[in-house]
Amino acid sequence: MAGLSVQHTPIPGLLVLDLDVREDPRGWFKENWQREKMVAAGLPDFEPVQNNISFNLAAGTTRGVHAEPWDKFVSVGTGRAFGAWVDLRQGPSFGTSFTTEITPGVAVFVPRGVGNAFQTLEDGTCYTYLVNDHWRPDAHYAALALDDPTVDIAWPIDLAGAEISEKDRTANPRLAEVTAMPPRSTLVLGASGQLGHALAGELPGNRAVGRRELDLADPASLGAWPWWDHDVVVNAAAWTAVDAAEDERRAAWAANATGPAQLAVIARRHRLTLVHYSTDYVFDGSVTPHREDEPVSPLGVYGQTKAAGELAVASVPRHYVLRTSWLVGEGQNFVRTMARLADSGTCPRVVDDQWGRLTFTHELARATRHLLDVGAPFGTYHVSNGGPPASWADVARSVFALRGRDPEDVTRVSTAEYTAGLATAPRPVHSTFDLTRLEETGFVPVAWPEALASYVAGLPQAG
Ligand SMILES: NC(=O)c1ccc[n+]([C@@H]2O[C@H](COP(=O)([O-])OP(=O)(O)OC[C@H]3O[C@@H](n4cnc5c(N)ncnc54)[C@H](OP(=O)(O)O)[C@@H]3O)[C@@H](O)[C@H]2O)c1
Repeated sequence: MAGLSVQHTPIPGLLVLDLDVREDPRGWFKENWQREKMVAAGLPDFEPVQNNISFNLAAGTTRGVHAEPWDKFVSVGTGRAFGAWVDLRQGPSFGTSFTTEITPGVAVFVPRGVGNAFQTLEDGTCYTYLVNDHWRPDAHYAALALDDPTVDIAWPIDLAGAEISEKDRTANPRLAEVTAMPPRSTLVLGASGQLGHALAGELPGNRAVGRRELDLADPASLGAWPWWDHDVVVNAAAWTAVDAAEDERRAAWAANATGPAQLAVIARRHRLTLVHYSTDYVFDGSVTPHREDEPVSPLGVYGQTKAAGELAVASVPRHYVLRTSWLVGEGQNFVRTMARLADSGTCPRVVDDQWGRLTFTHELARATRHLLDVGAPFGTYHVSNGGPPASWADVARSVFALRGRDPEDVTRVSTAEYTAGLATAPRPVHSTFDLTRLEETGFVPVAWPEALASYVAGLPQAG
């Protein structure tokens, strides 16, 4: 296909392809759709799932202007058509139009939300188009009157005598009345958790839902969701009760592994970018700092379920697995507990032989937004606040100092001493992440002592 070329148009993302049509005495042949060569030539890898053909008896048959919620790749098999497109997406290019003649040697890539219309120029024109979502009767889409005076499409054949469906002739609004198509949005799962709360506040235009609206462990709930409304899904939902997971294995596996595996299937099917969170507990803690390519070696059920979830999510072409450690945000967490104990005059014993760095949910949400905004390479990233690795006792002592207490009031103990007689899950000794991969994307982590100071300053004094 030496003649293949892709040209841009005044409508962002609307592309015209010149195809290589080979003629001989028998007729002609073309590769109407050839993913590898077309993507190399500049076409988006748009993953079509349905091929439609509209056969048009008479010249002058006119259809449109329809902006369905999926991408299209149009051409003709026989005959010729005058193609017209109007941008009906929200944004500065709304109302921009473009026209060109479609022959077997021309194909046009029409992005979601751009109104598509054509008028056949010969009898028996066979108009064919690929789409990247299955047609569904409940799909809402924008449409525009064919004779809209603002856009003023120069139809070669007068619309008055053209073959047009009743709906296209009478039902579609003028440009001023068109409801522009919004872009696909970001969906945040687990919105009532610590991280979900921070993500809902950070990611632009997101829709954030809790378990009641979307239950990750319930296939029916996942199956009923309108995934086509989204382009990014950020999964902050998880079973996070580390000790309880040892006994409640089914619930932990459902939320942390089976659910994410189903999300991965959905993300592949709907071409979603899937952001998923994992943990330092996928490691046995014998190595420090943890790099992204360290083999997983979870000690307990929680870590095992999270490791399984990661593997499933990694099968999604557009995925980010963000492993994080020692999360602190809204809700109950270690720092809040230490602040409360400091305020109430308590002198706690805190383990001093587990090492890591705090991750404030705001920092993790900021890193998530950064990776999405810069289009960082897909894959796994380690994300925590920066600063020196510390033990839990070090963190507790910092909180005590910030609350005006003597840090020495926190007694350092070993994990073995602290957990004697308690049924606790095994925990990694070393949780510190190597942040190089994240930093190479241009993200500068805030040091945890600095983030801790502003977090603790915002906590109310316990009575
Ligand atoms: N917390 C940490 O120290 C830590 C450390 C490393 C990694 N991580 C990871 O970071 C992520 C966020 O953790 P987090 O601390 O924000 O957790 P969190 O506060 O416990 O929030 C988790 C949320 O997930 C929801 N959820 C649980 N099962 C669900 C289901 N089947 N369907 C829908 N929602 C469900 C919970 O809802 P309910 O309230 O209804 O149960 C909760 O709102 C998780 O992936 C976690 O594994 C956390």
